[in-house]
Amino acid sequence: MNIYKANIIYTPTPDRFSFVRGGYICVAANGIVEGVYEKLPDEIQDHSFTDFGDRLLIPAFNDLHVHAPQYRNLGLALDEELLPWLEKYTFPEEAKFADTDYARRIYRRFVHELWMQGTMRSSVFATIHADATDLLTNIFRESGMGAYIGLVAMDRNSPDYLQNTPKQVAEYFERLTDTDGIVRPIITPRFIPSCTPDMLRLLGRIAREKNLPVQSHLSENRSEINWVAELEPDASCYADAYRRYGLLGQTPTLMAHCCHSAGEEMQMLRDNDVVVVHCPTSNSNLASGIAPVRVFLDNGIRVALGSDISGGHHLSMLRVMQYAIQLSKLAYARSEGKLPYLSLSEAFYLATKAGGSFFGKVGSFEKGYDFDALLIDDSYLNYDDYSLEHRLQRYIYLGDDRDIRLRFCQGRQLLEPSNF
Ligand code: GUN
Ligand code: FE
Repeated sequence: MNIYKANIIYTPTPDRFSFVRGGYICVAANGIVEGVYEKLPDEIQDHSFTDFGDRLLIPAFNDLHVHAPQYRNLGLALDEELLPWLEKYTFPEEAKFADTDYARRIYRRFVHELWMQGTMRSSVFATIHADATDLLTNIFRESGMGAYIGLVAMDRNSPDYLQNTPKQVAEYFERLTDTDGIVRPIITPRFIPSCTPDMLRLLGRIAREKNLPVQSHLSENRSEINWVAELEPDASCYADAYRRYGLLGQTPTLMAHCCHSAGEEMQMLRDNDVVVVHCPTSNSNLASGIAPVRVFLDNGIRVALGSDISGGHHLSMLRVMQYAIQLSKLAYARSEGKLPYLSLSEAFYLATKAGGSFFGKVGSFEKGYDFDALLIDDSYLNYDDYSLEHRLQRYIYLGDDRDIRLRFCQGRQLLEPSNF
């Protein structure tokens, strides 16, 4: 067992933080949290512990929607809305991943930066390329971080140079045998406009037969939604187009964005236990809209956070939390106060425990959770009279990767990946 002493902060529930100043966290040899204590219990009084002093110990971050092959476009090309942005900037960049040397170079940097930013679990879109996707899987396995990794399926309305066939996708999943552990595959239709009914049907079947989770995009942008209504006229709403093919809740499902989901679609998200992945940096950059996060939460819909790079311009979940709060305040003002904005503890909960729930018992320090943690040193900003909540708030708004001293995933301290 390992015992660490620090200022421990986590969110068992969204409405408030648990703070234990100078507390102890006990982690079993298998990496699972045994408990958090103000004072060490009698039976382990004499156990040695590692004293992290006045630093903050928080659950590591979970990014539930991120495009690894868009890493090189970070901060670029944000002058268009979704559909022209895909055509002009994103598809040409993703096509480069046919070259595995290029893929190795960019994917190593991507995984290195996830490590830097303290994101220990992520749900990742790769590209249509099987070799590059295998490479990304191996880079994650070497890193010690957890991930779902999706070979992207797309066989219509995309450039010839960036399409795969249902046959190729079926072969990829036939070949995959190693589907356990903390790096696993996920079924990944890019979105309805990119996939023929044959492709969607196949993906729904593989999800069922191999019991694999699903990730995609939903109701991100008005033009996209109108296009889906033309392409799938029998579907009652965009979400229904996925549902009809077994891609909405048949197995655990992530749907990014949902900026314009309402009415029947909202009901369908709840009834199918879909996790909505809110991507506020991306939604502002691509002028997509403000997702009704408060309405989702009030209706019992699960919500997590995603960076959605390179629609989002930064991999840090600090930025994503900050934008989530700020956009929710704009939604609050627009609703004339009817939609309460997100509190700091709610945003933190979304980035840790809510997102972590997709990976098992991840994202909290309650007994039985995987010890995924970050040790934060904010001493350069610190004044003695600051509360732990204010220190955490300032870290979320002003902090960056340099403040992270140590990173743990499943109880193991992860050192900087080499060869990035
Ligand atoms: N919809 C389909 N593909 C994409 C993508 O790569 N990024 C975003 N933000 N939305 C999409
Ligand atoms: Fe996306």
